[in-house]
Amino acid sequence: MALALIRTIEEFRRAREAARSAGSLGFVPTMGFLHEGHISLVRMARAENAVVAASIFVNPAQFGPNEDLAAYPRDLDRDMAMLEAAGCDLLFHPSPEEIYPPPEQDVYVVPGEIASRLEGAARPVHFKGVATVVTKLFNIVQPDRSYLGQKDGQQVAVVRRMMRDLNVPGELVVGPTVREPDGLAMSSRNTYLSAEERKVAAVVYRALCAARDLYRSGEARADALRDVIRSTLESEPLVASIDYVSVADPLTLAEAEGDVADGAMASTAIHIGKTRLLDNVILTRSAGSNT
Ligand code: PAJ
Repeated sequence: MALALIRTIEEFRRAREAARSAGSLGFVPTMGFLHEGHISLVRMARAENAVVAASIFVNPAQFGPNEDLAAYPRDLDRDMAMLEAAGCDLLFHPSPEEIYPPPEQDVYVVPGEIASRLEGAARPVHFKGVATVVTKLFNIVQPDRSYLGQKDGQQVAVVRRMMRDLNVPGELVVGPTVREPDGLAMSSRNTYLSAEERKVAAVVYRALCAARDLYRSGEARADALRDVIRSTLESEPLVASIDYVSVADPLTLAEAEGDVADGAMASTAIHIGKTRLLDNVILTRSAGSNT
């Protein structure tokens, strides 16, 4: 089946109804400017469902006033070619007015504590925007399975919690982080890095791996694990600032104290030049985890 580009909610609902008899629908929500990280989720969805839908919507509600909404990179033709090659059937690509028609949106999905930490501390409206648009997209698309990347570990935790607390139907599937050969997590925002900054950006993953290696060598104290991440980052002069270094419970994102349990999420966000990079790994005693 060729990829169908659908721009309105009404038209998507019709396509959804027509596809219902085919079997399960897998859904990959994105903001576009796709790379192998997004496409790996489309491939997972393709392998597990009769019908695969993706969305491309740069969601204004999840950007703060001084963030990169206007500058967010876009390339619809390239995205469509990549989606089609990966076997995607339906692309929902609405305008901002289609998703947020006047009068102004008044009812939001507002996550609590889980969204106040880590990314939420630096970006106070971000997860309210994410939870609201994901709820809207789920209500429009009605997926049986939705696919999110571990790359955005807090987003996974927020959406999982939102689905649990609001009894949202459907299954959440989390795909592993896809990385460049040097370990840098693929991200649409990597295009903002200068050549020199790009060379050192792999320090983020190196720092997280240092914590994972230390954990595997028997060190379970959360402080020691946070320390090795911070000192690795600080060894790189081009790291302009460190927003946070965290070792946290993967479900609540509460910061770990004392000894950490298997499955904890080590994460960090830093600035290199003007670019903010974030990444995480799951701390496990053995290899083969979802990172
Ligand atoms: P976006 O940043 O476009 O990412 C879309 C999906 O791709 C997310 O689930 C994200 O975690 C995943 N992803 C991005 N880079 C990845 C990588 N290197 N490896 C694996 N998966 C990766 O996340 C969003 O859009 C938005 O917040 C959205 C959920 C669409 C709501 O607006």
